[in-house]
Amino acid sequence: MYQVYPRSFADGNGDGTGDIAGIRSRIPYLASLGIDAIWINPWYRSPLADGGYDVADYREIEARYGTIDGAAALISEANEAGIKVIVDVVPNHTSREHPWFVEALAAEPGSAARNRYHFQPGKGADGAEPPTDWTSVFGGPSWSRLPDGDWYLHLFDSSQPDLNWENPEVRAEFLSILEFWLERGVDGFRVDVAHGLVKDMTWPDMESETDELLTANSQENHPFWDRDGIHPIVREWRALVDRYEDRMMVAEAWVPSLERLALYLRPDEYHQSFSFDFVGTDWDPSEFRRIITESTTKTATIGSTTTWVLNNHDVVRHPTRYGLPNGTNWRAWLLDGPHDILDAELGARRALAANLMLLALPGSAYLYQGDELGLPEAWDLPIEVLDDPVWERSNHTRKGRDGCRVPIPWTSDGPSLGFGDGEPWLPQPPEWAEISVEAQEADPNSPLAMHRKALAIRAEELVVSETLTWVDSAPEVIAFNRGTIECWMNMGTTAVDLPADAAIVVASDSGQATSGASLKPNTAVWLRR
Ligand code: GLC
Repeated sequence: MYQVYPRSFADGNGDGTGDIAGIRSRIPYLASLGIDAIWINPWYRSPLADGGYDVADYREIEARYGTIDGAAALISEANEAGIKVIVDVVPNHTSREHPWFVEALAAEPGSAARNRYHFQPGKGADGAEPPTDWTSVFGGPSWSRLPDGDWYLHLFDSSQPDLNWENPEVRAEFLSILEFWLERGVDGFRVDVAHGLVKDMTWPDMESETDELLTANSQENHPFWDRDGIHPIVREWRALVDRYEDRMMVAEAWVPSLERLALYLRPDEYHQSFSFDFVGTDWDPSEFRRIITESTTKTATIGSTTTWVLNNHDVVRHPTRYGLPNGTNWRAWLLDGPHDILDAELGARRALAANLMLLALPGSAYLYQGDELGLPEAWDLPIEVLDDPVWERSNHTRKGRDGCRVPIPWTSDGPSLGFGDGEPWLPQPPEWAEISVEAQEADPNSPLAMHRKALAIRAEELVVSETLTWVDSAPEVIAFNRGTIECWMNMGTTAVDLPADAAIVVASDSGQATSGASLKPNTAVWLRR
């Protein structure tokens, strides 16, 4: 699965913002990668206060991205090219510009219109204190007050009011939205904040900070994350999705354990739920081995597989993460540095090795646009261009996620490196000219070439079985057999011997392919024995 962030993929009309026309023009490229499907981040009508995760109309396309007809054309053209299309659904909250919220604001406290969201009176004298002490994931309080005294809940930005999933009207509306898109031919859904829909409506205080964005919480009976009441809702969606042929749902559920994750993967719930374990893990072979072992064995016991993720639009890109010393808090580092501790070249080598390893694992693998180019984080974006609400809501203590959302460099020159004719909505680092698609197409040893080769072999040979067998190796080496292919990744600091009777079929380091007998540090290979 290849994740397309529409705002930053390709700009078809030259306004500096990516769009549906841009994606359509790049379908041949997507097909050339050898992927099975794309996941498109929200493309619905939206003020884009949180990059489109603030939806004003779930049945319309944001005008900056195109039209509903363009969306339909994209789906059918992608399908014709052999690519399935899944779209994002955002059920936890709407935009404040959604007609329901506009109606709620105009209505009285206690009204039916307000009951679609979580409106509550405040605490303390005159209700001047928020109903609970919960903090927003993006920073600051998770409640905002209206002039009439009522407070509304927003686990994210104040422009993203949380919906009340105890309200049957909300449940019916989302079934209808899913049906709308199923009828338009989407192959499935990525469900946003799938662990957040149900709240403890006794409104208890937490007496602790909300966990930072995208870290699994460990609290039992958490007042708003991973509550058991979520699952009956998922079963309703699944029953609908199952009425259509060959459709799927994947959950973005940040949960504290594989046991909790497994609940989302029950046969009548999601087909997939992201495993975010690698995202939070340093370059550490014992941790990598533990994650692979636990995840593959536990998902197998429930008849499911793991859905692997190294990157997405919410995290610092992994060539940068792996170029920082282990233990660095990369979210804080973006702003606070020190930036001279980054070894970009080392990070790039490790990230490429990790991708090759990821593509050898059983289960499903998600690549984020630019991963195939080895695109690093644009970590030095000037403060003036930051767009992520995290920057303001964190009181300028977190730079936010813009650095992984910078438009793709398609060509090695031109005003926006081939992204489009206009000034791109975020500036691209000039050195990205050297790692553009155009530059890499011309180089048979490029990261792009490695991904194409690996994806082709994966499709032919690796998806036929979900079995992984560990191969005896030094502790700093991750080595496993997948039938015809064996993957070896050297996470240590010295070269290690590869088995004598093996031919290298893909390597993350172009110097490696010919050298044969030993595997360089920070390199991965696929062997055929
Ligand atoms: C998810 C999305 C993220 C968004 C948040 C609120 O975590 O991946 O980008 O900001 O939900 O919708």
